[in-house]
Amino acid sequence: MGAKVIMVASGKGGTGKSTLSVLLAAELAAAGKRTLLIELDSGLRSVDIIAGVCGKTVYDIEDILSGRCEADKAVVQSPLYPGLSVVSAPYSGGEIRPEALRVMVNKMMPVFDIVLLDTAAGLGAPFLAAKAVASMALVVITPDAVTMRDGRIVADELFDAGMPEIRLIINRVAVGRGAKNPVSNLDECIDTVGAQLIGVVPASQEIAFAAAEGRVLGAASDEKLIMRSIAFRILGEDAPLVIR
Ligand SMILES: Nc1ncnc2c1ncn2[C@@H]1O[C@H](COP(=O)(O)OP(=O)(O)OP(=O)(O)O)[C@@H](O)[C@H]1O
Ligand SMILES: [Mg+2]
Repeated sequence: MGAKVIMVASGKGGTGKSTLSVLLAAELAAAGKRTLLIELDSGLRSVDIIAGVCGKTVYDIEDILSGRCEADKAVVQSPLYPGLSVVSAPYSGGEIRPEALRVMVNKMMPVFDIVLLDTAAGLGAPFLAAKAVASMALVVITPDAVTMRDGRIVADELFDAGMPEIRLIINRVAVGRGAKNPVSNLDECIDTVGAQLIGVVPASQEIAFAAAEGRVLGAASDEKLIMRSIAFRILGEDAPLVIR
């Protein structure tokens, strides 16, 4: 059986797609799944830093898609996360074409169990290319009216395209005593986006530093537990929805 291809999308930028792509890909790899993370956000690279492969990449997704190198040449192992392979986005580049991405992903299908596609915000070329090859979409929002409404637009596009599985992650949720979110009722997020909830991720310094400095989450941290639980839920396993 070929790899399961999962896209990570959002309507609005900065909801945490790249951060969660790396942290979830890391947990999928830790669960024994051969995992490839491909960043499709040309010109706005960030996965390389978060996954610790910054400076280790010679080729990127654009080189593969335009035929300048074989697919495996651009695949780099993350030094932070055993079992996680990464293909970086170019610093600048052309449009990701669905057909080219399909050819590349088809080549990777036998070699990996999971291919995770970190897209750019909105409904542009990276979203369209990913939508054409993925069988599962994770829509990432934060608990506020704008990302929620834009998340709905993205989810509708995916529904219309017949995406088999669409799941919602609510990121950067303020938790703890006295915490306030612009949208305090998470049910409202789920209703607005209209997709099944797969995870709730707290706003957390642990996650912010993991992303900014390319370092792993604390082994005993709540954040790691939450990522592991979402990863298991992605795999269809019976893991609880952890909310701290
Ligand atoms: N749960 C979290 N807690 C704290 N900070 C977070 C969390 N998730 C993401 N961030 C921070 O939010 C910022 C945006 O995250 P990220 O780059 O992953 O978003 P994105 O959706 O990929 O953005 P873009 O649309 O530009 O690709 C980063 O500074 C990241 O460290
Ligand atoms: Mg990003």
